[in-house]
Amino acid sequence: MTPPVQLLDTLTRIEEEGLAAIESSGSLDELEAARIRYLGRSGGLTDVLRRLGQAPAAQRPVLGAAANEAKRRLQAALEERAVALKRAPSTTRPPADLTMPGRRACWGGVHPVTRVIDEICEIFRELGFSRVRGPEAETEWYNFEALNIPLEHPAADMWDTFYLADGVLLRSHTSPVQARIMETHDPPVRVVVPGMCYRRDPFDATHAPAFEQIEGLAVDEGIDFVEFRFTIEHFVHRFFGKHTRTRFRPAYFPFTEPSAEVDATCGSCGGDGCSTCKGTGWIEIMGSGMVHPAVFEAVGYDPERYTGYAFGMGPARIAMARYGIPDIRLFYEGDLRFLEQFR
Ligand code: PHE
Repeated sequence: MTPPVQLLDTLTRIEEEGLAAIESSGSLDELEAARIRYLGRSGGLTDVLRRLGQAPAAQRPVLGAAANEAKRRLQAALEERAVALKRAPSTTRPPADLTMPGRRACWGGVHPVTRVIDEICEIFRELGFSRVRGPEAETEWYNFEALNIPLEHPAADMWDTFYLADGVLLRSHTSPVQARIMETHDPPVRVVVPGMCYRRDPFDATHAPAFEQIEGLAVDEGIDFVEFRFTIEHFVHRFFGKHTRTRFRPAYFPFTEPSAEVDATCGSCGGDGCSTCKGTGWIEIMGSGMVHPAVFEAVGYDPERYTGYAFGMGPARIAMARYGIPDIRLFYEGDLRFLEQFR
């Protein structure tokens, strides 16, 4: 006995339509929509299978076999199409041309002055110094008065700067952070303070109106000049090499007493004299000294109980000495031909 023509026709139609829809779907989303439409729980094929129950019992096996066969073919087509779609290149982007030469990646690098700052701070970190920061816009109090520099005193001219408003200026050194740290922390204090400073200086081979400094400050009971000297010599050995010698020259700073300028033997000539050290054999690396009692008084430390040392160095000048760079302006021009040498 033949199954009712009507159900068989429906089955054939569903299979044909389903196969066409699967074949023409252009994306996995479209393919899924076709699966739901023809094989889903309320899809065409499921509907036919449900209606099978109403067919005469004798016809059911034939109809059932035909339905299962249609389902198998649709499922096989679905799988095949899914594999093809996953493998196919996206239609929105042209396929990559693997024979094309690669585009060169642009590598960044750390600026030579930044590298010197990091290295210096690391050496002091090993000695127990924390790395801290302070504001570049500073008040007259911190830039001058707390550091024992009366505003009318001629010494203030050494740190002449740019004013932003009445009493507010661009700091001309990192020393104001000494006062800020001591005001907010009890001894012992050991800090290094890298940061930008500003001065009314000409922009020439050895000066920049905006430049980096690193301040150092150590305060505790019983710190003496010997500890200070030892620390600086240790730093010079670590940074410039074991054979570099140091020299302390008497100097004047209102916030240290005694004060010293520290020189290191020139790395280019080893102390014989060359163009880098202007024939002297020495490179000046920092201003320094024992913290003046007046500074301790300004921040509320007992000068009878505490002593300490402070220093300030210019990492750009130190980088010049180390790499044999003749002109400080090279650091600030952003010329990649220069900077790329330090990567
Ligand atoms: N602040 C001084 C300067 O800018 C350097 C210095 C720092 C000197 C600390 C002594 C102690 O020249």
